[in-house]
Amino acid sequence: MKKLIIEGQRKLSGEVKISGAKNSVVALIPATILTSGKCVLEHVPDISDVRILIKMMEQLGSHVTFENEVLTIDNKDVKNVPITEEYASKLRASYYFMGSLLGKYGKAEIAYPGGCIIGSRPIDFHLKSFRKMGTEITDNDGRYEFVAPTLKAVDIFFDVPSVGATINVMIAAVLAKGTTIIRNAAREPEITNVATLLNSMGAKVHGAGTDQITIEGVKELGDGYVEVIPDRIEAGTYVIIGALLGDNLKISNVVTDHIASLLYKLKEAGVKYKVEDNTITISKANHIEPMTIKTTVYPGFPTDLGQPLSTLLTQCDGESLFEETIYENRLRHVPYLNNMGANIKAFDTKAIIEGPTPLKGKKVKATDLRAGASMLVAGMIASGTTEITNIEHLLRGYERIVDKLNKVGANIQLIDEEE
Ligand code: EPZ
Repeated sequence: MKKLIIEGQRKLSGEVKISGAKNSVVALIPATILTSGKCVLEHVPDISDVRILIKMMEQLGSHVTFENEVLTIDNKDVKNVPITEEYASKLRASYYFMGSLLGKYGKAEIAYPGGCIIGSRPIDFHLKSFRKMGTEITDNDGRYEFVAPTLKAVDIFFDVPSVGATINVMIAAVLAKGTTIIRNAAREPEITNVATLLNSMGAKVHGAGTDQITIEGVKELGDGYVEVIPDRIEAGTYVIIGALLGDNLKISNVVTDHIASLLYKLKEAGVKYKVEDNTITISKANHIEPMTIKTTVYPGFPTDLGQPLSTLLTQCDGESLFEETIYENRLRHVPYLNNMGANIKAFDTKAIIEGPTPLKGKKVKATDLRAGASMLVAGMIASGTTEITNIEHLLRGYERIVDKLNKVGANIQLIDEEE
């Protein structure tokens, strides 16, 4: 098991460069299955989710090389074999193979997807859409079988603008017969990034990034190319750390529009930062006003930044209100923050956070990826030593996080107890 040991209260200065987006690349890789040609993906982060997806591609017969952030995927020998639980259960995004294998072969067999335990996380929108596209789905206790003799276009309206369902239907629809319309689609930037790859392969996807996407089915696809967008959640996490410990800390390779909701909230609360092109320079704020935060779909405040931001809210001068609206179980980090000295009252998906409270280093646990980020921020502002266990969660979504932070002045050790 891996753990982090953090010596807190180190000022941070220098530059942190943001990596490619996890929630984009985990969709881009399975989407390449749609072509028997070659795809080149640039700015690919070296995170555990990517390593698992490479293994899944190789299980399907794909030839993959990964060097210097460039992933080259050659699918000329790909075969439609079942995606086993061994890999599928390790990450949520394994469900993107449903869309790509169905789109390419009209048939797929996949074990249930995994992912962070932050709520029930059903995939009913995905399954309903595939059924409407003419797919027969059999749920064999732990794995799904999909069969669609002819995948046909669909006109679908999502009850909730789901990121995963929007991308999965988009992927399945590019080779389907006719024109698909996705209404009340999610608008997250990762969706536009996937559409860019699909269109580079010869697909006809229009309107990605808006709430209505149209996909005209085509007969086949060719080689593809895409640059993975910078990770807005990683960027937001470093901005939060900079507001608490920065000394002109530079965060580069950021698409600032993608984190506008966070930047506006911080500005309203009195945090000062400078934006130049794709770089944010930020320093510790001596006084931070309390905030009212309600997580929602893009371009609103992202649920994935809720947990790291809640650590910052413990340092605001007064009472902050926090509400999580996407997942029903995403406050599991709160007891650990309170154990470190915070004053948070949590009720289901809401929390009242009284600040400022000095935090003290303690032994805590990362219950999921972004809870891990909340614990990391807490350990960095706490006095003394913090030990965070279950850190595998954090490493799934933040490339070289210990190196990046130590390079700008943090004091963090990554201990692998197996070694
Ligand atoms: C993606 O998850 C991200 N994961 C999540 O990031 C992120 O929190 C989420 O989008 C919201 O932004 C990846 O991209 C791999 P949804 P996804 O479908 O696609 C409900 C992280 O920390 N819903 O947009 O699974 C669902 O329960 C992770 O990086 C249904 O009811 O999220 C949720 O309440 C965590 N039925 C809401 O919609 C469905 O079929 C939004 O989920 C699908 C979703």
